[in-house]
Amino acid sequence: DLAGVEQEVSTGALPGWDRVDELVHEAHRRHAADQSGMVAGYIPILGAADPALFGLAVVDVAGGVHDAGDATHPFSIQSISKMFVYALAIQEHGHERVRDIVGVNNTGLPFNSVMALELNGGHPMNPMVNAGAIATTALMPGATSAEKWERVRRGLSAFAGRELTLDEEVYRSESETNQRNEGLGSLLSGYGRLEGDSDAIVDIYTRQCALNVTAHDLAVMGATLADGGVNPVTGERVVSADVCRDTLAVVAASGLYERSGEWLFEIGIPAKSGVSGGIVAVSPGKGAAGAFSPLLDSAGNSVRSQLAIGYLSRALGLNLF
Ligand code: DON
Repeated sequence: DLAGVEQEVSTGALPGWDRVDELVHEAHRRHAADQSGMVAGYIPILGAADPALFGLAVVDVAGGVHDAGDATHPFSIQSISKMFVYALAIQEHGHERVRDIVGVNNTGLPFNSVMALELNGGHPMNPMVNAGAIATTALMPGATSAEKWERVRRGLSAFAGRELTLDEEVYRSESETNQRNEGLGSLLSGYGRLEGDSDAIVDIYTRQCALNVTAHDLAVMGATLADGGVNPVTGERVVSADVCRDTLAVVAASGLYERSGEWLFEIGIPAKSGVSGGIVAVSPGKGAAGAFSPLLDSAGNSVRSQLAIGYLSRALGLNLF
């Protein structure tokens, strides 16, 4: 009887993972009718998303997969790419170097803030906002932009356990309206905090945001971080366990923008959102949830994705604290 789940949890008797499939469907059913929020407005093509879409998936560290609703509907990964590119950058350059170049703190300002950069001498501070993500993408190895981009695409594909491809329409739409990110790239360059051509790096960043994933993919990608860097579905080691720890610490501090503290306080698991409506939440040693619903709250976080993951956090005992 699912009606008793929250009460059971509050008395300490966790229902456990034996009912996970049922609970994923229940989380989806409970929030399927919620129509609150608005689709993203500032990227033209995202404004055309179907607000009815709602997908949910959980993947555990043993590789068990549980999908509900539109879990295999593709959408552009957007800002969720930031955490996985960040993991690849630490794998390549190490904890200290990436910490010093990009920083690990929450800016407390919106994800596309120029002021956040100006207030900190051009130091991005936070790899989960656009300036920090552009600085992180610049750290990808490769002699040419094409090589750097291929490194990003292959790396994220290894997390997902399948070849991810670019959504050309989203990439084009965003490229045409990308002046703000180009401005952030130029400002980083002006402060001497970006190596290479800033427009070329912003272009790779724009491509990484336009990679297509599904809620199911997000759950596999997150479960790879939960599993200490080994993709639990393919068995491939993607990054080291130390990289997972570093990445999840930063995601906990800043994954839901300026609502990150509230999210950690109420739900208690590192999670990253993106403006197309995706959220991935990672419970180390247990597994991850991926969710997708395009209707967003005022901070740009998917409403139904937050509600469904919140329910699963309570029902599966995912809260870290
Ligand atoms: O750069 C942008 O604004 C989008 N490609 C991604 C924004 C997003 O998902 C929110 N980010 N933290």
